[in-house]
Amino acid sequence: MRIYAHRGCSGTHPENTLAAFKAAAELPITGVEIDVHLTIDGEIVVIHDEKVNRTTDGKGYIKDMTLSEVKKLDAGSWFSEEWAAEKIPTLDEVFDIFQDTNHRLNIELKTDVFPYVGLVDKVLEKAKKRGFSDRILISSFNHEDVQTVCHKKTVESAILTLDVYVDVYDYARVVGTNRIHLSLPASFRRMATDALYKGAIVYVYTVNKLEYAQQLQQIGIHGIFTDFPEKMLAGLESP
Ligand code: G3P
Ligand code: CA
Repeated sequence: MRIYAHRGCSGTHPENTLAAFKAAAELPITGVEIDVHLTIDGEIVVIHDEKVNRTTDGKGYIKDMTLSEVKKLDAGSWFSEEWAAEKIPTLDEVFDIFQDTNHRLNIELKTDVFPYVGLVDKVLEKAKKRGFSDRILISSFNHEDVQTVCHKKTVESAILTLDVYVDVYDYARVVGTNRIHLSLPASFRRMATDALYKGAIVYVYTVNKLEYAQQLQQIGIHGIFTDFPEKMLAGLESP
């Protein structure tokens, strides 16, 4: 079962920071999951929320800020003073960390609240320029964007869904993928195993208890997103 560090090693480091990604780059896991938004001056930045309020010392929406404004924020102190020097990274800076490793990057397009016009093309162009096209997996709760990525046929893409539903595999096929990223509660429903049986590649978020990861491994789930990848590595048999 594939292990992805969710927002980097976010259980032990401030989420979506270079510190969290450097820690993940040291581990023999499949890869990392990151969240991307677009600044007002068109830069791709890595942060989970639309607003900077929860994970920095600033206030406001990423969409209303320039990269220069974003870079002034402290993205680590909210987690621990130890990480006060952490900034909100750009996608380029994350690529730098994984340039010489074999890790894969699951890039979640956070386009389900604000559409961030042009973000899909910008991410694909940057990945191509940096030589990451065959190491990225795009996902989104915005399935129109997943469909756009699928139609381009240049990188892998997955639908993200909070809930599983009847024929979710057939729905994913209509979007253009056989990859489904499911929430943990949804993954234990019979419809999840039905999708697996039909041929879906199913990853589950966010799995932080080892016993859940073990159960998911037993039912044939292909991958998990976890805030504690070291714990999963230590506890799962041949992950
Ligand atoms: O990509 C899996 C997971 O990260 C989706 O939910 O809210 O953690 O971005 P969220
Ligand atoms: Ca995410």
